[in-house]
Amino acid sequence: MSADAKVIVHPHFRTHDRIGVVVLGTGAVGGELLRQLGPAGRAGITLVGIANSRAQHAYHGGLGTATARERLVSHGDPRDDAGLLAALNGFEGVRQVVVDATASDGTATRHASWLRRGYDVVTANKAAIGRALADWREVRDAARAGNSVYGDSATVGAGLPMLSTLRRLHGCGDRLLALEGVFSGSLSWLFNHYDGTRPFSALLAEARAWGYTEPDPRADLSGADVARKLLILARSAGHALDAHEVEIENLVPAALRCADAQEFRARAHELDDVFAARLAAAQSRGKVLRHLARLDAHGNARVGLCEVDAAHPAARLSGCDNLFALTTARYRTRPLVIQGAGAGPEVTAQALLADVLALRERIIAPLALAV
Ligand SMILES: NC(=O)c1ccc[n+]([C@@H]2O[C@H](COP(=O)([O-])OP(=O)(O)OC[C@H]3O[C@@H](n4cnc5c(N)ncnc54)[C@H](OP(=O)(O)O)[C@@H]3O)[C@@H](O)[C@H]2O)c1
Repeated sequence: MSADAKVIVHPHFRTHDRIGVVVLGTGAVGGELLRQLGPAGRAGITLVGIANSRAQHAYHGGLGTATARERLVSHGDPRDDAGLLAALNGFEGVRQVVVDATASDGTATRHASWLRRGYDVVTANKAAIGRALADWREVRDAARAGNSVYGDSATVGAGLPMLSTLRRLHGCGDRLLALEGVFSGSLSWLFNHYDGTRPFSALLAEARAWGYTEPDPRADLSGADVARKLLILARSAGHALDAHEVEIENLVPAALRCADAQEFRARAHELDDVFAARLAAAQSRGKVLRHLARLDAHGNARVGLCEVDAAHPAARLSGCDNLFALTTARYRTRPLVIQGAGAGPEVTAQALLADVLALRERIIAPLALAV
């Protein structure tokens, strides 16, 4: 049997209603997902394969979640999608799901192909739907063609019910008038703490040591990751927004953009005067600095540093919290606000698990509702 061909199991021959799952990525989020699946697998879900960037381990009869990672290390086969999909095909479940818990562009480019062939995809990886509009549409069209489901809850706000809420409002005919918020846990932490008592570079080093930033913090400071989340949200609210239409303020000074990661860390003190001047200007007007993403009813989108009043909801955030404030035709006088931890393996893995569980009922709002 070709691994490319998906077995169509006649409903009559299905002996149970279990969902077969392959998990790509066994890092912070993928590892936590395996833990949340439980030692014998959660009721109704059977793990049939796991993979990291170098190896994979799969068996159509199911793997024990507790031992799967050890066996990946000790008995792992070379990485090859076809073998993972063959194990999914061999498992005659009601749904066959690929969970992408990687940050890999390579796996993201394969989401559409998997969907088109009838596999459901549940992802924390934003790369397939957070960049060019054409890519987003390809994923949407592939899900329609394959009669499959794309679970993307974990791509924005980690475990917060952000996309589901937006789609629910949009599906009920509500109209998004404005969206504003703090979409990055690391940038939230940095500006919640930056009050001028410590240099910005010292806070950046501390945030990196806590694991709040990417290993190279420029990935956060560039604003690109926040812009991807804004694009995913905008599209879910019906705005056909393309990547080049988001105005992004890159907080990394031009002189530090081309340095390698080690050189950037050594020269991070060059950020201090830049941010001190921004903070002093804000404080002189009685304001604080916050990293905000904004979208208006016309699709104007911006990501960058803003001065806000002390009474602004973003000024009152703490820790790594995310904030999403939605002003809609029906939430016009006071925005609907969703706030809470916007990063962390536990809440992100939980969002993945919830999307897998929702597949049993086919209740994930499909991408088809939007753009
Ligand atoms: N951590 C969070 O709080 C958080 C919150 C929201 C969203 N996310 C998103 O969740 C995803 C995973 O984040 P993470 O923190 O778990 O990252 P991580 O700890 O770096 O783990 C990434 C995993 O992906 C694996 N991988 C890379 N390329 C692969 C491929 N081609 N096939 C199979 N596996 C591959 C890596 O394998 P190796 O071990 O071999 O390198 C590693 O196991 C990212 O897209 C991230 O943006 C994370």
